[in-house]
Amino acid sequence: MSHLSERPEKPVVGVPMPHESAALHVTGTALYTDDLVHRTKDVLHAHPVQVMKAHGRITALRTEPALAVPGVVRVLTGADVPGVNDAGMKHDEPLFPDEVMFHGHAVAWVLGETLEAARLGAAAVEVELDELPALVTLQDAMAAGSYHGAKPLMETGDVDAGFADSAHVFTGEFQFAGQEHFYLETHAALAQVDENGQLFIQSSTQHPSETQEIVSHVLGVPAHEVTVQCLRMGGGFGGKEMQPHGFAAVAALGAKLTGRPVRFRLNRTQDMTMSGKRHGFHASWKIGFDADGRIQALDATLTADGGWSLDLSEPVLARALCHIDNTYWIPNARVAGRIARTNTVSNTAFRGFGGPQGMLVIEDILGRCAPRLGLDPMELRERNFYRPGQGQTTPYGQPVTQPERISTVWQQVKDSAGLADRKREIAAFNAAHPHTKRALALTGIKFGISFNLTAFNQGGALVLIYKDGSVLINHGGTEMGQGLHTKMMQVAATTLGIPLHKVRLAPTRTDKVPNTSATAASSGADLNGGAVKNACEQLRERLVRVAATRLGGNASDVRIVEGVARVLGSDKELAWDDLVRTAYFQRVQLSAAGFYRTEGLHWDAKTFRGSPFKYFAYGAAATEVEVDGFTGAYRIRRVDIVHDVGDSLSPMIDIGQVEGGFVQGAGWLTLEDLRWDTGDGPHRGRLLTQAASTYKLPSFSEMPEEFNVTLLENATEEGAVYGSKAVGEPPLMLAFSVREALRQAAAAFGPSGVGVELASPATPEAVYWAIQAARQGGSPGSSDAGESRTGIGSADGGDRAGAEALSGA
Ligand code: MTE
Ligand code: HPA
Repeated sequence: MSHLSERPEKPVVGVPMPHESAALHVTGTALYTDDLVHRTKDVLHAHPVQVMKAHGRITALRTEPALAVPGVVRVLTGADVPGVNDAGMKHDEPLFPDEVMFHGHAVAWVLGETLEAARLGAAAVEVELDELPALVTLQDAMAAGSYHGAKPLMETGDVDAGFADSAHVFTGEFQFAGQEHFYLETHAALAQVDENGQLFIQSSTQHPSETQEIVSHVLGVPAHEVTVQCLRMGGGFGGKEMQPHGFAAVAALGAKLTGRPVRFRLNRTQDMTMSGKRHGFHASWKIGFDADGRIQALDATLTADGGWSLDLSEPVLARALCHIDNTYWIPNARVAGRIARTNTVSNTAFRGFGGPQGMLVIEDILGRCAPRLGLDPMELRERNFYRPGQGQTTPYGQPVTQPERISTVWQQVKDSAGLADRKREIAAFNAAHPHTKRALALTGIKFGISFNLTAFNQGGALVLIYKDGSVLINHGGTEMGQGLHTKMMQVAATTLGIPLHKVRLAPTRTDKVPNTSATAASSGADLNGGAVKNACEQLRERLVRVAATRLGGNASDVRIVEGVARVLGSDKELAWDDLVRTAYFQRVQLSAAGFYRTEGLHWDAKTFRGSPFKYFAYGAAATEVEVDGFTGAYRIRRVDIVHDVGDSLSPMIDIGQVEGGFVQGAGWLTLEDLRWDTGDGPHRGRLLTQAASTYKLPSFSEMPEEFNVTLLENATEEGAVYGSKAVGEPPLMLAFSVREALRQAAAAFGPSGVGVELASPATPEAVYWAIQAARQGGSPGSSDAGESRTGIGSADGGDRAGAEALSGA
């Protein structure tokens, strides 16, 4: 078998090609879970009974009025659950709760002949509540000491000695918001039961095996009675890694109890009010620099807003801690983590999975400290990069592989974006424009690839070759628009040596490939690609032996290229279809199960040490913004990115991922502003931003006016499938450059060298307040040495940075 990263002659990987479903996407013919309903007879519609209070114990739940509504067939409550009444993996997430834990919590579900009947039935269900106090914000929870989950601590070096050696010490706080996934397809499932009681559930899920697991424990049946299929998702972004399970279990329970197919699809407001989001975080920190601006020590505490239940908050927090170093060497570090328990939706995975939050903290620190150190932020960042040849490790003890790539991508962006000249032009522009300022910021990323939980780093596949030479691949990964299926078809075609049109892909199903991991952690292509390649290699090994019997020569000298088998040094040929037919008649097995596990990983979650990542993905981005001094409104004039995807499996797909990830990151950091009702009135805890009308997403008008994305060349990743690297999550964090550019543009309204704090998201309003702070001499406490407290206000308030910045000015 060939080496994992080695490419054969004329590979299909590396060829730019559109997404395998692109034509279906753009013509509106691609099917999503809920489209399947129209092809299914006798479907019942499920509608949630949401309680519009943030916290309270249920004292009465009356379902009879719902049953009196015409068309209502059944009301599902906790009493109907034959197995475990829990939707999560931590047993802290009752599917039918006795206690309402957040505003909009579903306590029962109504099944109706029509959606309207189910909706009216849900409205008729009577719920009585003993209301309890609700902790709505992260501050509420921190003040009340309301936490759940683990309390990790990551330590390296001697932090106290590091501070003692520091010429400058700064302290600060930073609170920043979460993010709504806003996948276009909301949560949906369709469950059916056959004459044997076998359940078939179509679910919009990133983790079909875990959906299967939760459905089977809710129903109290073994996993082999439950099959979960995911055709494709209209976006997942982490929001469908854990959260679909309970919903699918409701549909499955309904199907089991009524014998009829049951579907649900949340409308946008239900989806936004019932499902978890990216965790907002609070960070308090102290950092020490030497006289040249090199980090000596970091002491920080990160608190994630977990919401009402744990969900994936512990691994999210772990990844946040593991990414607080980003591209910087921190010799002495002590970073603690906490998960706050609030009466809001249970926050969950979201592209980057805590990585963006950890990295944002250090980027914010550097952006704030650079002016105080009298250094250009770009220079401060560069001085602190991990360096090759020094044996530097991350604060959790993993050696940093390929540290030279940090400066390679950085320098490439500097050159291709013409940074030096543009900085001069911007200075001239700013000097001539008192009411409009521009700024250009360059930031880099290092992102660890693999699941922190070592067991998840495995993938499976089942590859079938039919007698006519056509190939069908099944693998454990799900398609959510990221192009995984396209890449898997390219991997299969490359390994078998056949043209792409010979390969077709079957929907992801738990009865084809069992015990799969979530398609998450950007590792879909690495894990499933390894497994598809492994299955195809087994088949190829068998087929070259067959070819050798027909062509003469040694099997080891047979090459299959573009669908033709030849023996090295001979002119004789055997076409793929003939080869396959011959193999069939020789009774050679034409199917193979493939498996892949990532080698070399180890992680001790207790000591918070080890090497949890197979490799790191690197990138750098330069963003230029223009800011209006009267309103704080801004636009992104230009973005230049160089990103490392190893040797790309599918360059067009990867460029799309870099662009999409960047824009999603920019949305998180600038526009997308989750607000809850934090007052003491009857709607306390209600999500105020429940739809696209109040939750501003990046749209065409917010795209960078010039957007240049380049993939790093000659970047073979040894030990990864065909030399490629994961791409799904890392580019999101390139958007730090937008935030840092906005900070610098706001500061440009003040006296030279002034530093400002900037709230996150940096909405035009927040930028306006940062400008005001700059005009009045900068953020409070901007002197060095000593404990200069530089906090940022609450994440739920309006003018987050502004209020404090002004009051301190
Ligand atoms: N791209 C699209 N179009 N839609 C998505 O939902 N999810 C992202 C990323 N890119 C997503 C996407 C997330 S959160 C992850 S973890 C990866 O895709 C998952 O896929 P991969 O592992 O195959 O890269
Ligand atoms: N991203 C990164 N790491 C993870 C994820 C994810 O979605 N899920 C579990 N670990």
